[in-house]
Amino acid sequence: MARTAISSVPQGASTVLGPASQQQSPEEVRAAWSEAFRRVRAETEARAAPLSPEDQQIQSMADASPTKWHRAHVTWFFETFLLKPHDPAYTTFDERFPFLFNSYYVGAGPRHARPQRGLITRPSADDVAAYRAHVDKAVAHLIDTVAPADAARVFSILEIGLHHEQQHQELLLTDILHAFAQNPTDPVYDAQWSWSKPDQDKGFAAVPRGIQSIGHAGQGFCFDNETPAHDELIADMRIARSLVSNADWLEFIKAGGYDTPSLWLSDGWTQVQEAGWQAPGYWRREAGGWSTMTLAGRQSVDPQAPVTHVSYYEADAFARFAGKHLPSEAEWEVAARAGLLGDAFGTAWQWTRSAYLPYPGYRAADGALGEYNGKFMVSQMVLRGSSVATPAGHERLSYRNFFYPPARWQFSGVRLAEFT
Ligand SMILES: [Fe+2]
Repeated sequence: MARTAISSVPQGASTVLGPASQQQSPEEVRAAWSEAFRRVRAETEARAAPLSPEDQQIQSMADASPTKWHRAHVTWFFETFLLKPHDPAYTTFDERFPFLFNSYYVGAGPRHARPQRGLITRPSADDVAAYRAHVDKAVAHLIDTVAPADAARVFSILEIGLHHEQQHQELLLTDILHAFAQNPTDPVYDAQWSWSKPDQDKGFAAVPRGIQSIGHAGQGFCFDNETPAHDELIADMRIARSLVSNADWLEFIKAGGYDTPSLWLSDGWTQVQEAGWQAPGYWRREAGGWSTMTLAGRQSVDPQAPVTHVSYYEADAFARFAGKHLPSEAEWEVAARAGLLGDAFGTAWQWTRSAYLPYPGYRAADGALGEYNGKFMVSQMVLRGSSVATPAGHERLSYRNFFYPPARWQFSGVRLAEFT
């Protein structure tokens, strides 16, 4: 399943950020990074383009950030971790910006409170555009002029910055969807947006059992949390080829799933009671059925589409209702590597029953960049795959996404597993 009209590159297309091989000349390497930088930066602007300055200002909850902040924060990342340490001639665009646009990097200095990002009416969206242009120019210059001895280090930080910006491209969409969902006029982000048909594979597939390797190994970029590759023991089990659909979820609702405490983890049941959940995020009961908020505005729930905007608690309760389990992240990855999963990527992130923990032997990088992943390895659950909002080429078999169990503003869905 793929979506339309968000990214400039079709989902599933092979898009390498940077040089395609290690055989390229230094000039070709520079040109490849230059092009990758231009392309990723342009994608962010393309995603922001349908949004007015007022849209870009809004912060609808503490977990979400304004579009304007995303555009500035990813720019701050390049300024802080790439330009300031590696370009002595770089001049900071505005000395006030690091405080405003540092997210959580304690080692990079003090920062504005996350829940109050929506209160920053100035700098304006135009100011942020000028900040982006200033940093774009400086990064392009650095790519062209970096000394050969420093090139490997500079390009490796550039690469992290590009993947970081891609992560924020996804958040830009999920955050504005949440904001638009609070608006009684049901704003449309992209009138052309739609789900395409899900993969037709149904049923369950046996996952290769025994000792299996997961994690990132070999060439190509990965985040540190995907390493080291290591062995996991896979039991006799089967995994669903398809994602749980809205039709499946309607059965859960009809059967009183949200009113049956025995289906829920204790924390989940508390959450359901406190939040009054009776359906996935954005669902609303209408006279003729259910509607949901989408990037194309409010639409009828499509029974054939995968369920999305469900929390870990809901995913777990649904699995119990179905007499199944959620897969572990190791089971998911082994199955994906074996080509057993329909809609593994580009549709909905899939909750796993795995807590987000360091792999055996994991070490975070030194310095402020070491805060990227490692310090979040507590109290969150791993999601695998990628979603309809993930930029093309960002997905990987070893990719580990993670959110707190109640979170449901991402395109998060469900794949079931069973033990045999
Ligand atoms: Fe970030």
